This record gives sequence, C-alpha cells and structure tokens, in this order.
Amino acid sequence: MTEPGNKSFNMMEGLPEPPAKGIYFDNNATTPVAPEVVEKMIPLLTEHFGNPSSMHSFGARAGDEVAEAREKVQALLGASQTSEIVFTGGGSESDNLAIVGTLHAKPRKKHLITTSVEHPAVLGLCRDLEKRHGYEVTYLGVDERGHLDLDELKQALREDTAIVSVMMANNETGVIFDVETVGRIVRENGSVFHVDGVQGAGKLPLDLKSSSIDLFSLSGHKLHAPKGVGALYVRKGTKIRPLIVGGHQERGRRAGTENVASIAGMGVACELAGANVTQENTMVRDLRDRLESGLLAAIGDTQANGDPDCRLPNTTNISFKFIEGEGILLLLDRVGVAASSGSACTSGSLEPSHVLRAMGLPFTLTHGSIRFSLSRYNTRDEVDYVIKALPPIIERLRLITPFNEQRATF
Ligand SMILES: Cc1ncc(COP(=O)(O)O)c(C=O)c1O
Repeated sequence: MTEPGNKSFNMMEGLPEPPAKGIYFDNNATTPVAPEVVEKMIPLLTEHFGNPSSMHSFGARAGDEVAEAREKVQALLGASQTSEIVFTGGGSESDNLAIVGTLHAKPRKKHLITTSVEHPAVLGLCRDLEKRHGYEVTYLGVDERGHLDLDELKQALREDTAIVSVMMANNETGVIFDVETVGRIVRENGSVFHVDGVQGAGKLPLDLKSSSIDLFSLSGHKLHAPKGVGALYVRKGTKIRPLIVGGHQERGRRAGTENVASIAGMGVACELAGANVTQENTMVRDLRDRLESGLLAAIGDTQANGDPDCRLPNTTNISFKFIEGEGILLLLDRVGVAASSGSACTSGSLEPSHVLRAMGLPFTLTHGSIRFSLSRYNTRDEVDYVIKALPPIIERLRLITPFNEQRATF
C-alpha cells in the first residue's frame, strides 16, 4: 500500500470487492421484512382490503386479521389479555402514547423519571415536556458498564412522580436493564412504569403478566415486520389518555382506521420471533461473539462497550481508538458491509454518542465506536468476511487520522 503523503495514495487500494449481496449488520436500526410476513401482507393489500369497521364481509375479514394479530402480539409479550394490546404507528408513537397518555391521565403529577441513555423517542419527548409543558424530568445516570444505580432511582422517586420510563435494552450497546427490579421499586411508590421494549421484544423472552411493567412499547420493524407499525401493551387497569382522538378504534385509545396489512404482518413477525427466541440466544449470539472476538483479536487499540455479560445476543458496540466512526462506516459500506455508528452528524459537527458519553467513555473511544447488530438471517461466512475486511480499513484510517496520538501535532 502507498503512504498517505504519496500522490497515488488510494484509500480503497487492495480492499476486497463487495460481495454481490450486501452484508447487513444494522438490525437494531431496522430489519429485513421476513418472507412469511410479506406473504401474509400481500393479499391484505390486494384482495382483502376491507376496513375493519365496515359491516360487510370485506370488513369482517379485515377485523379478523387484526384480532388474530392481536393474539399473536399478546402471546409474544406474555400479556394476560388481548385488550391490553393497542396497535400504533411504531415505537416512537408507542413511547409517546405511554408517557403523554399517562401524564394526561394524572394531571396533578408533574414529575417523571427516565434515564440518560434512552432512545431519542423518549429523550426528545422528555426535553419537550420540560421546555414547553412545565414538567420536571429526572435523568438517571449509568455506570461504565451501562447499568443504572437503583439507589439513585429510589432517591429520585417523589409523590408527584407520574411515570418512570426505562428501556429494556439499549439500542446502541445492547445493555439490558433490570426492569423487573426497577418495576418493583416504581410500583412501591405508586407511579406508573413504562418500558421501551423496542429492542428487547423478540430477542429476549417476555412474560409481562407476571412482571411489574404497566406499559411496554414494541416496534414492528425491529423484528422483521414493516416500518410504521407498532404496539403498546397497557396493563389492565392502567389509565392512559389517547394522543389521537376520533373514532372508537383500539377501544378509544388510538383513533384511526387500522393499518390492517402491517398489523397482520407484525402478528406473523411476533409469532416467528417467539419461535426464534432460543435461536436468537444461541445461533445469533454465537455469530456476534465470533465477530466481536475476531475483531478484537485482529485489531489493536479496540474495546467492546457495555456489560459483556448482560447484553442483547445480537449486538456488539466496538470502539476503534483514534479514528472517527463515520470514516469506518463509509469504507465498510464500500466493501459491502452495513453497520452503524453512535455519533450523529448534526449541523456539520460530529456529536459522539450520548450513550457512550453517559457511560463515561473518553473522546478517543466515543468517536470511533461502531455498532454491529445481527439477526437470524446473518451467516458465519458474513462474519468471517468482516473479520478479514475491517483490519486494513482501520489501518488506513489510522494513518490519516488527526486523533492519532502519534499524530497529536496535527
Ligand atoms: C429503543 C428504541 N426505542 C424507540 C425506537 C423508535 O421506534 P420507531 O422507529 O418504530 O419509531 C427505537 C428505534 O430505533 C429504539 O431503538
């Protein structure tokens, strides 16, 4: 390979040609729709297109499909009854319905608690509630492994705490929170407990009926259903006000004609996810572990982030010191591999991941972090390809990086 100073230096020289079919390791962002889900949906978009509220057989068929999907979502979540499932337009809407719906049902309570590592669907909403609606929000911190301090939670709870919202598993690191213990503490205080379960559902076994969780968000496109469909579990007896008011759909908790095909597709996806949870915990975990250990062994100055013993089976978040995640992603994409970085490119500046910052990681590690998130559709050959393709990419980027210690005078 030519040196960076040389005119003929070419970042791509010697890197492998991308495989014909791209390698997708970004399943925490979105997943491919399962063929069984597509098969379910097509007739509902073509032949059986009725409105579930209509009084004819087209409507009845559509209504049956929604009812069947509700049963499948109930089964995946381990809810005690189908009436506890409200279909929504995705994870963000479910989170908003849970939090705002609870606040509106408890107008005298003006305090809520969440964590500093939530998805923007919750964090953005909480900031808006503080800034524009006069609510007070406590953001719980995490330790260097990504875990909450339960004493901090106990101290933060107040008489006027309407709701506590904590994610089941972190979308960037995969770290799993002990929502069961959190729920017991929240319940003792008499507050409502919401879990953003978008990354946990389908990857971890669930039994909501015997948990202390009152509200649980789910998103179709994270478990091989289409985008724009989701669900909120509302424990029987938990009061929420609707965000979308109008018709009587979803027992008055979410007005609007149901997205029948996507709901039915999500039902099938939940059924498949339930059947695949064991596979997720063995085959996908093995692939993830092979990828992680292969990369850590092949590339120096790297570390895996988040508690290694308490993570989603499909996720690894690796920091490559001294380089920017975006550079890695661009070159990975050129060799046919899709992954993701925690940094967000906002107004021209690269903001490092709020999750890794909350865990106290230094600048050199937050900037070069990459998340690989796998699914049951990934293979060992794909993992081995990445273990081979990534080391020369990192080597090249480190030659030109302004963060490199050896190049600190840049
Ligand atoms: C933890 C978590 N919550 C909520 C969401 C938002 O879900 P949706 O994209 O369906 O709105 C995501 C999406 O990445 C997520 O990872």
